[in-house]
Amino acid sequence: MRIGVLGTATVGQTIAEKLASLDHDVMVGTRDPEETLARTTSEKAWVLPFGEWHRNHEDVQIGTFAEAASYGELVVNGTSGDASLKVLDAAGAENLDGKILIDIANPLDFSQGMPPSLTVANTDSLGEQIQRAFPGARVVKALNTVTARVMVEPGEVGGGDHTMFVCGNDAAAKEEVTRILKDWFGWRDVLDLGDITNARAMEMYLPLWVRLLSSLSIPMFNVKVVR
Ligand SMILES: NC(=O)c1ccc[n+]([C@@H]2O[C@H](COP(=O)([O-])OP(=O)(O)OC[C@H]3O[C@@H](n4cnc5c(N)ncnc54)[C@H](OP(=O)(O)O)[C@@H]3O)[C@@H](O)[C@H]2O)c1
Repeated sequence: MRIGVLGTATVGQTIAEKLASLDHDVMVGTRDPEETLARTTSEKAWVLPFGEWHRNHEDVQIGTFAEAASYGELVVNGTSGDASLKVLDAAGAENLDGKILIDIANPLDFSQGMPPSLTVANTDSLGEQIQRAFPGARVVKALNTVTARVMVEPGEVGGGDHTMFVCGNDAAAKEEVTRILKDWFGWRDVLDLGDITNARAMEMYLPLWVRLLSSLSIPMFNVKVVR
């Protein structure tokens, strides 16, 4: 499948690498492909500069946000939450129309330092803002509740015995994303929370996630919903 992955940092690199390893045709989207490819340093010590990452992943194409969205039959939003709406504007509504858009972004606000708060919560969410702004896109919120490595290798935590949430308005899109999570990434327990308003809960889990990270000192963890 042709997949456009918007985002060039940890999430973009991790999702693109996994999809390419499964023989999908992947194009990563960024603001300025030339500048991004020329990067030799990274603001975050744990993120490979994209140029360095790409030297080992030449099967992954790189384009603008619009080129990647247009290329993908499926589109993934792995961009900074405070920039996601701007990124998707640049990607172009016409390039998202009718396509499944897996939204991994979290609306984190680091302006007051750590731990971050949320830029939107309680009565709205980034997932809903995206679905409202791009009514033609079939937005499915997923994967935002775990660190990038766990998204694509859930088996590395507790043998994979833990829960991934999804939500969205389009039942068929959610079914397809659930299939992708299970068949491509290895998730065993995918819990459908309902329509896109449930993105509020998935995003409001993040304040707990960052505190768990602080307590555990490692990001390789997840929650399991025991029925
Ligand atoms: N890191 C994780 O393990 C993790 C786990 C769960 C969810 N998430 C969520 O996934 C998303 C991506 O996280 P990340 O850690 O990979 O990277 P990030 O640093 O949050 O986002 C990087 C991406 O955002 C784009 N971006 C940043 N500011 C922008 C702006 N002003 N205008 C346009 N684009 C902008 C960058 O574009 P360029 O390519 O042009 O630089 C880059 O592609 C975030 O919403 C995060 O909360 C992350």
